[in-house]
Amino acid sequence: MNTHLHEGLELARAVEASAKEKTSDALMIIAPPFTHLAKVREVISEVKLAAQNCSSEESGAYTGEVSPDMLKTAGVEYVIIGHSERRSYYHEDNEILNKKVQLALSKGLFPIFCCGESLEEREEGQMFDVIREQITVGLNGLSPSDMKNVIVAYEPVWAIGTGVTASPEQAQEMHKFIRDLLAELFNQQVADETSLLYGGSCKPSNAAELFANPDVDGGLIGGASLKAEDFIQIVNAYA
Ligand code: PGA
Repeated sequence: MNTHLHEGLELARAVEASAKEKTSDALMIIAPPFTHLAKVREVISEVKLAAQNCSSEESGAYTGEVSPDMLKTAGVEYVIIGHSERRSYYHEDNEILNKKVQLALSKGLFPIFCCGESLEEREEGQMFDVIREQITVGLNGLSPSDMKNVIVAYEPVWAIGTGVTASPEQAQEMHKFIRDLLAELFNQQVADETSLLYGGSCKPSNAAELFANPDVDGGLIGGASLKAEDFIQIVNAYA
């Protein structure tokens, strides 16, 4: 919940300008607030457009909700589903997130499905069980061909917005676990082809070492995306 409309548009324009000069072949996606989406659509072409959330319902009397269809008609291509702040502050559980993923896919949106454990869960050694549950339930009912349209983001809750980043070893360990889990739940091709993003205090100074891991395919960037020059440095850290 950052930037007023005019600030968001200015940021989107700056990101679009830097995208035209990027030195890496990373795909760039920006996810502004709902109120900015249709306007941001008009100022980007190189950069793809995502929403930060969507409804689990198709249409009707759900005051305050934004449906996948509404997003599509605003020119949105991707949608973040299950960000930890949605899970914790708005009590979105794995079942409701699964409904969102299925509905978004059925409407032709590409879900960016987030998972991540809390500090307490990591300290108690439960992190692999938590991630297994989030992914198994969150992506339940999807076919291998649906998975071609899904991006998975691992975001340890203790690293989001805290300045504490997972070490490259911690990120790689969990990403490998997720890739193996996708092979188990779907097949090896799905595991090999699904993009696994790392999120949580990723910044220009640590992006390259995180992205150097074999199973880290990119980043989901929060705070550092609010400055176009930091964001593009992170993009260019993806070799
Ligand atoms: P951060 O946020 O980069 O500020 O830690 C990540 C996120 O919100 O997904």
